[in-house]
Amino acid sequence: MSILVTGAAGFIGANFIHQIINQVDEQIIALDALTYAGNRENIIGLESRKMIFEHKNICNKSDLEFVFSKYKISKVVHFAAESHVDRSIMSSDPFVQTNVVGTQLLLDVSKHASIERFVHVSTDEVYGSLGLNDPAFTESHQIQPNSPYSASKASSDLLVRSYYETFGFPAMITRCSNNYGPYQFPEKLIPLMIHHANSGKSLPVYGNGKNVRDWIYVTDHCDAVLSVLNHGTAGEVYNIGGESELNNLTIVKKIIEAFGISESRIEFVKDRPGHDFRYAMNINKIKTELNWQPKISFEAGLEKTIKWYKSNQSWLDRVVSGEYKTYIKEQYQ
Ligand code: NAD
Ligand code: TYD
Repeated sequence: MSILVTGAAGFIGANFIHQIINQVDEQIIALDALTYAGNRENIIGLESRKMIFEHKNICNKSDLEFVFSKYKISKVVHFAAESHVDRSIMSSDPFVQTNVVGTQLLLDVSKHASIERFVHVSTDEVYGSLGLNDPAFTESHQIQPNSPYSASKASSDLLVRSYYETFGFPAMITRCSNNYGPYQFPEKLIPLMIHHANSGKSLPVYGNGKNVRDWIYVTDHCDAVLSVLNHGTAGEVYNIGGESELNNLTIVKKIIEAFGISESRIEFVKDRPGHDFRYAMNINKIKTELNWQPKISFEAGLEKTIKWYKSNQSWLDRVVSGEYKTYIKEQYQ
């Protein structure tokens, strides 16, 4: 039996595979379209009979049918998505294609194959934005997305829900807060600031830097997803978070301190349109029902992350230069 992991060459998908490869008995089928965010190098050392890479697109039904006919897939963990809010503001089309249409095709093909478990990896951003003193999001909070990214993820969540309600399809939805850690594409806040701090560039903070996110180290998120895959109840939604709310300026200052550079490198830039002010997660449900909780503090996670980027400078250089698109072919074929 095999577990299909979509978005396997992206940030969280790759970390998930590194983490579970020695924990599960099943073969892992790592599917990825290798968009700009996908980097085969993230999982290259793991390819073996236990982990097979399939360069396929979830928006292409025959790609999915090919994969489901080639392997005996019993479980699906669905990470593949367009994931960056700023890009969704520039152009929402790929977000609707992959996050909505791609998810619908994956649901259909998975249903046809009568799989046993399906985890749809979603985000806290589907709940919308909170004020500073509002209570954290629970799973029953209304869905009120504000960006094309979060709207497309919310749409995919609703499709997953409908497959459970209509067909009894064995799906669970996870909604997690902001991840950080190894292999994150340097367009997101933490890796972008690490990259800029280390390369003499200014550190661009949107608006006044007071926007708040809850931050979770990626391995904690991956543990939670595995817990839901193994023990979650079909039809349920599980919030996941790091219990670590911080505003952006605080994070940027911590990175500045870690690199021993001057705060004058901070550059306040034009705010993101429709910029959600605050996300915060109530994670009581997953704590009590699945006995999961985050293990890594923000301080420890940030230290590990900075250490990883420093010792993987060549990975970062290849991503920034664009060489990562051809590197694996040249090295391994
Ligand atoms: P990412 O952008 O780093 O990776 C996405 C991966 O999906 C890439 O490897 C890309 O090539 C692949 N992909 C994109 N379109 C595809 C398609 N049509 N077919 C097949 N593969 C395709 O994203 P990430 O940060 O690893 O996020 C993974 C999932 O977790 C996403 O669904 C995202 O919404 C969700 N999530 C992310 C965060 C976060 O902080 N990064 C937080 C909560 C939830
Ligand atoms: P991001 O990492 O894009 O995640 P998301 O928007 O999905 O939460 O951004 C995190 C926060 O950091 C968000 O409030 C926007 C802000 N931000 C900056 O201030 N400067 C930057 O260069 C980036 C990429 C983000």
